[in-house]
Amino acid sequence: MFSKYKKQAAKPATPAPQPAAAPAAAAAAPAASLRRPVQRKAAEAAPMDKERKRKERLSEIKIQLHRELLENLNLAALENAVEAELRSEIASIATEILAEKSIVLNREDRQQLNKELYDEVTGLGPLEALLQDDTVSDILVNGPQQIFVERSGKLQLSDITFKDEKHLMRIIDKIVSAVGRRVDESNPYVDARLADGSRFNAMVPPIAVDGSLVSIRKFKKDKLGIDDLVQFGAFTEEMAAYLQAAVSTRLNVIVSGGTGSGKTTTLNALSSFIDNSERILTIEDTAELQLQQTHVGRMESRPPNVEGKGEVSPRDCLKNALRMRPDRIIVGETRGEEVIDMLQAMNTGHDGSMTTIHANNARDGISRLENMIAMAGIEMPLKAVRSQISSAVNLIVQASRLQDGSRRMTSITEVTGMEGDVISMQEIFRFQRVGLTPDNKIIGHFTATGVRSHFSERFRLWGFDLPPSIYEPTVMEAR
Ligand SMILES: Nc1ncnc2c1ncn2[C@@H]1O[C@H](COP(=O)(O)OP(=O)(O)OP(=O)(O)O)[C@@H](O)[C@H]1O
Ligand SMILES: [Mg+2]
Repeated sequence: MFSKYKKQAAKPATPAPQPAAAPAAAAAAPAASLRRPVQRKAAEAAPMDKERKRKERLSEIKIQLHRELLENLNLAALENAVEAELRSEIASIATEILAEKSIVLNREDRQQLNKELYDEVTGLGPLEALLQDDTVSDILVNGPQQIFVERSGKLQLSDITFKDEKHLMRIIDKIVSAVGRRVDESNPYVDARLADGSRFNAMVPPIAVDGSLVSIRKFKKDKLGIDDLVQFGAFTEEMAAYLQAAVSTRLNVIVSGGTGSGKTTTLNALSSFIDNSERILTIEDTAELQLQQTHVGRMESRPPNVEGKGEVSPRDCLKNALRMRPDRIIVGETRGEEVIDMLQAMNTGHDGSMTTIHANNARDGISRLENMIAMAGIEMPLKAVRSQISSAVNLIVQASRLQDGSRRMTSITEVTGMEGDVISMQEIFRFQRVGLTPDNKIIGHFTATGVRSHFSERFRLWGFDLPPSIYEPTVMEAR
């Protein structure tokens, strides 16, 4: 057995025979185990041996050629080169070098090599093809030999690799130096934004143990809107109508969820309900939100530079934003001391503000806010903290990435006030799981909980008269 996250060791030609004497632990297990056999698939898209060998050979030739190409190319002229010209220039230099070295390649390999060389010289090497592939939404590199990609919610091992750690480091350097940052042993991790807007994070050895780790969240030109999300089954039309009422009537909304669960996508989609006449300020670590309104001011916080200077924290941006006369403030993610200013903004005239937090459910989300306040060094009795939270936050929308890769809004919960020392909440909609298909797809449906919104009157007064039927727990068609 081998882990699917580990490179497969050379296998014996025939399956190893079962050892005659089972190991002690196995012997102690009952003959018919209650457990399902663990399915460990060989890395999903692992290329066949022959194909891998061909790639390795090409990769070696490519590295060799690349070095020589750099010596032969006039890099200053590169900047102004027309793509077609540059491609043909690279191809002809490559042909020359190949002839010199008496390396013979077939047409297909030569074309592939020319393409890779072009990507290597002008772009981000092996990552370039993935960045250009619109079906890929995330790229996760675990050292030079393993690149996972996410397509339609599913992570797969790609057959693309770097030659070695040095090659990977060179590409990382290229990315971070383009944005004036540095990454090395003393600054082992870095956040950056690629030229196309994609979010980039890298961590290099020795902190990354088996080679550099890179994560890229690809920038989507056309962000998923409310209609797309309804169509994908992320939530229902009824939930969308409720959310429209909530955002339009300026409830303060927190989108809670795990990593990659669709928080930013949800926040972006919700923002489409904001009226075009409002002045919106957005604050993010890496600008991802794409608001459709006219009056939008976007801010991006900045980490300290190599000398530890020049930091502009999300809190600094938020404090400044309050002096910029916003109608609403949207903070990409609240994860630190900016929570204080966020809650204050929500409490003091910037109704309709929105943010995201990392939490697994609404109750967790509240605890997370409490913890952030405690970590920010604010000494306030817990009851006062809770009362501050309960009057600031109106709605918690939970985004989840389920085990089959689908992303859904698993709960919409209202914060209704305080009961004694406890924040009271009521869930209005939820995703009800009922089972699993044989191929591990989740079966379930969205349903209202039967609880009428605490804000119904407000909705009505603002002209969003939702029919009472949307609060009825109807068992909807499984999606
Ligand atoms: N309902 C959905 N259906 C299909 N794809 C989705 C859905 N919601 C989000 N995605 C896609 O999932 C990816 C992750 O989404 P998003 O960036 O919103 O997650 P996140 O929770 O903000 O992640 P992070 O924690 O890394 O900031 C994106 O590529 C996005 O386009
Ligand atoms: Mg996000």
